[in-house]
Amino acid sequence: SDVKPYPTQCVGPDYRSESQKPTAVVSVGVEFDTVTILPQTPQLIALLSIIRNKETQRGDFIFYSNRIIRLLVEEGLNHLPTVEHTVTTPVGRPYDGLSFQGKICGVSIMRAGEAMEQGLRECCRSVRIGKILIQRDEETSQPKLFYDKLPEDIADRWVLLLDPMLATGGSAIMAVDVLKSRGVPEERILFLNVLASPAGIQNFATKFPKLRVVTAFVDQGLDEKNYIIPGLGDFGDRYYTR
Ligand code: PRP
Ligand code: URA
Repeated sequence: SDVKPYPTQCVGPDYRSESQKPTAVVSVGVEFDTVTILPQTPQLIALLSIIRNKETQRGDFIFYSNRIIRLLVEEGLNHLPTVEHTVTTPVGRPYDGLSFQGKICGVSIMRAGEAMEQGLRECCRSVRIGKILIQRDEETSQPKLFYDKLPEDIADRWVLLLDPMLATGGSAIMAVDVLKSRGVPEERILFLNVLASPAGIQNFATKFPKLRVVTAFVDQGLDEKNYIIPGLGDFGDRYYTR
């Protein structure tokens, strides 16, 4: 019942006419201003096609997921505040540019979210990283909080919350509640996510109207076990153990 119609689109370089581009399923759209979906480029769709394929082995799953994660981090950084910053070049000329304003930290929702830490570290050298261990009950899909360890001054930082999968939204909502209980205002949290369900986005974005989300793709829906469909299966298992 929750399954959205298949949005297909011609995907390819702009210099090609529509009839010369291949067709692919692209992300479902969403109605929230706070949610950014990565541009549905040929590169992103090809990377997603690899990690969605059940035949893809663990080494490739890690490599190509990491590439998507890197795209998410690069886009996510565009949502942080900047200030004017002028530098002098080696030929003695000024360049009026920008620099980032404010401190950041990453917080991963364990286990799958830890897969996104490396991509964040590659872009933000020596970034502080906190952890929240939340596990979804396999029978009920309800999240359970086991552990958290967060930077002491987290309330003074922008938080990049990391979890590749947003299914019902229960785990991510629980993680944000932990962050808010430590004094992080909602508007200073940015959630980076690989694959979301429409219901997960709806629940999350309605509950936290000031929190920004960057996702690579909103899928069609959830199955009876609350797995995302068409999805990619269990991200944590495929990245870490399978
Ligand atoms: C997965 C995933 C999310 C959560 C999404 O984690 O990484 O944290 O489920 O589902 P939800 O939106 O319905 O809460 P899981 O609890 O399976 O643990 P894992 O990261 O160890 O695989
Ligand atoms: N967690 C996953 O890893 N995959 C899903 O489809 C849903 C939750």
